[in-house]
Amino acid sequence: MLVKVLGAGAGGGFPQWNCNGHQSAAVRAGKPGFRSRTQSSLAVSANGRDWALLNASPDLRQQIAATRELWPPFDGPKRASPIKAAVLTNGDVDHIIGLINLREAQAFSIYASDRVLATINANSVFNVLNADLVPRRVMKLGTPVRLEGAGVDLGIVVEPFAVPGKVALYLEDQTAGDTGNYGSREGDTIGLKVSDPTTGKHFFYIPGCAEVDGPLAARLNGAPLVFFDGTLYTDNEMIEQGLLHKTGKRMGHISISGADGSIAAFEPLGVKRRIYVHINNSNPVLDDNSDAYRAATAAGWEVGYDGMEVRL
Ligand code: MLT
Ligand code: MN
Repeated sequence: MLVKVLGAGAGGGFPQWNCNGHQSAAVRAGKPGFRSRTQSSLAVSANGRDWALLNASPDLRQQIAATRELWPPFDGPKRASPIKAAVLTNGDVDHIIGLINLREAQAFSIYASDRVLATINANSVFNVLNADLVPRRVMKLGTPVRLEGAGVDLGIVVEPFAVPGKVALYLEDQTAGDTGNYGSREGDTIGLKVSDPTTGKHFFYIPGCAEVDGPLAARLNGAPLVFFDGTLYTDNEMIEQGLLHKTGKRMGHISISGADGSIAAFEPLGVKRRIYVHINNSNPVLDDNSDAYRAATAAGWEVGYDGMEVRL
């Protein structure tokens, strides 16, 4: 399998359009140690020809333009795309809006939980994707599905599973409040185990996660590769930087550092390769010269970047 990081940024990307925080300003100014990141998406292929998107970001058009593998093949018909499927892990704006870029009467399949598909079904703008060409397939949690799109078997099996998290911001039920996790339900935030059944190779993709609880730790134990939620380094960094009065916990995102952070949570798990994705513009790991970057990499983590490739 070949995995490409199309976008390693979180919602808003890096720099974020309206953000004048010190890091967004630094990347805009071309300061050494900073590189821009588009919004959160991976692409995966088992045969090098047919590709599945894992999430479809608002930056998808730019991501396709930057990724030769996703261009129409040079010897192909007048309308063609290697993108045969899009698998969604939640209803975040940064994960679903790219579907709109895939209009123009091209066949592919959308895979998502019933909860996320309900959101897409409730928003008529997604009907630009003609259901005859673009079927919407419900993924059942815990049930592996072999990806198919445009009549092509991608040779990739995806197993979706629930992870701790929160429903997308625009779907929050304020009446449910904090104790009701703003109306979040199972299926609002999922992780994916992505496998090539021919080689037996696999990896995990979990771009949004509030906590590494017992079941998740057990699932990831000894995994060869995990792409994981790297939204924030510390829970209150957005407040401290004067950007937004919200903690990571309030947004449903675990932090990288701290006693209940992801570095500590993964420490006993023996995951061979650990890569942060969905990295928010406030996160100091986006500065290659920061203590945070040094601490994360010293703990065995890699900080994902656009164009990063992993073969397995
Ligand atoms: C998130 O991951 O928490 C969301 O993408 C935030 C947002 O909608 O900007
Ligand atoms: Mn997001």
